[in-house]
Amino acid sequence: MTIERTFSIVKPNAVAKNVIGAIYARFESAGLKIVAAKMLQLTRAQAEGFYAEHQGKPFFDGLVGFMISGPVVVQVLEGEDAVRRNREIMGATNPANALAGTLRSDYADSLTENAVHGSDAVESAAREIAYFFSEDEICPRTR
Ligand code: TYD
Ligand code: MG
Repeated sequence: MTIERTFSIVKPNAVAKNVIGAIYARFESAGLKIVAAKMLQLTRAQAEGFYAEHQGKPFFDGLVGFMISGPVVVQVLEGEDAVRRNREIMGATNPANALAGTLRSDYADSLTENAVHGSDAVESAAREIAYFFSEDEICPRTR
């Protein structure tokens, strides 16, 4: 089995709801280890760059406006099959389609304000981790 890293964001609506710890508990219960973490107020340029793949889509401006509406918490999660398992813990993008017990089912307020981000592939995870963290901010976990 290969240990992967994935990139995760607790989005502004979830920070506002005071569920950072509840969300971290889900990651930890699933065996995903937090190997880097920080709270940030994103700038518009940072949010636009992070979501560059969605530039030009009808929801882009609303998404960026939401992502800069308050602080976020960004983290790197490490574990077996971390990318796919984090997506499973998060649930579907649209909370209306998210399975019961997933983070988006429990904490999303709408399709845009859907509580958490998680990388969708190992390649995007590497890019997203590098967008927010320098190598010396990531702490390999040996136990
Ligand atoms: P996307 O990458 O498709 O979803 P995911 O976060 O599950 O990888 O979209 C990025 C974010 O954009 C999504 O989390 C919420 C927002 N969004 C909208 O506001 N409206 C939409 O129609 C879609 C598809 C996404
Ligand atoms: Mg995505």
